[in-house]
Amino acid sequence: MIGRIARLGMCTAGLGMCTTAMASSDDGSTDFFRWPELATAVLQRRDAEVELRKLARDVQSQFSTIQAKSKDEQEFQSAVRKLQQEALRRHQKIAFGVDDPHARAKYLRKFGCCGWTDGAIDMIRRIGKPIIEIGAGQGHWQKKLSEAGIDALAFDNFEGDFSIEREPVGDVKLGDENVLLAYPDRVLFLCCPPPTDFAERAIDIFEGHHLIYVGEGYGGAHANDAFFDKVKADFDLVETAELDNFPMCHERLFHLRRASE
Ligand SMILES: C[S@@+](CC[C@H](N)C(=O)[O-])C[C@H]1O[C@@H](n2cnc3c(N)ncnc32)[C@H](O)[C@@H]1O
Repeated sequence: MIGRIARLGMCTAGLGMCTTAMASSDDGSTDFFRWPELATAVLQRRDAEVELRKLARDVQSQFSTIQAKSKDEQEFQSAVRKLQQEALRRHQKIAFGVDDPHARAKYLRKFGCCGWTDGAIDMIRRIGKPIIEIGAGQGHWQKKLSEAGIDALAFDNFEGDFSIEREPVGDVKLGDENVLLAYPDRVLFLCCPPPTDFAERAIDIFEGHHLIYVGEGYGGAHANDAFFDKVKADFDLVETAELDNFPMCHERLFHLRRASE
């Protein structure tokens, strides 16, 4: 059960996954992968992780009590179901500040890890180039972009355990960052890449000119510091777009163009 509860929060980095139109960070510098709300959230998540560990211990202890005291299987199952619901409610309150324990699951079903806005989709359409998405998950964005008339090819190696449902939503093919070698003319689209070296490897392989990154910045739920360092060194920020963020999540959409252009 704890595993299931933890999975519901995967899109926000361990605990974890707003936006304004801007060409630099909020303090006017070019460090556009840092912004104040994210820095505050990163600190708050440390406290939340302590709270979540307490919750896990509490649930484990209540589970042991149920096991010891249940008179029959029916009573055991009923008590475990109640405990699951209560644990989910408390988890979602700590992780996202929401009262509806199913709010996150509804959001994930609708958008995948991060919600678009019409403005964000329009901005991608205006780039006027075909997209290649790696790490597309169930393909929520691939479907949305295709419906908006954008040529969007999507791949995932399907290693992620990021969703409570695994059914495909869009057209997502099996593949990892190495497929980028075959598509240098497309815009690389990375949406909420895990906080591993995946996004960094993708940017190392990618030879194209345009990158769209959806996610949090330094210290946040997505990618690693080396990815942000490399993107800042090799790309210029063109523009950003607003997203439909889930509470306590701070993804931004960045359109970047290779600096040598
Ligand atoms: C947090 S999920 C985000 C999924 C989707 N972009 C979304 O926003 O709903 C990260 C995804 O990256 C995928 N992934 C991780 N490493 C990958 C790799 N090397 N190649 C392709 N996909 C990868 C995982 O399988 C997972 O589906």
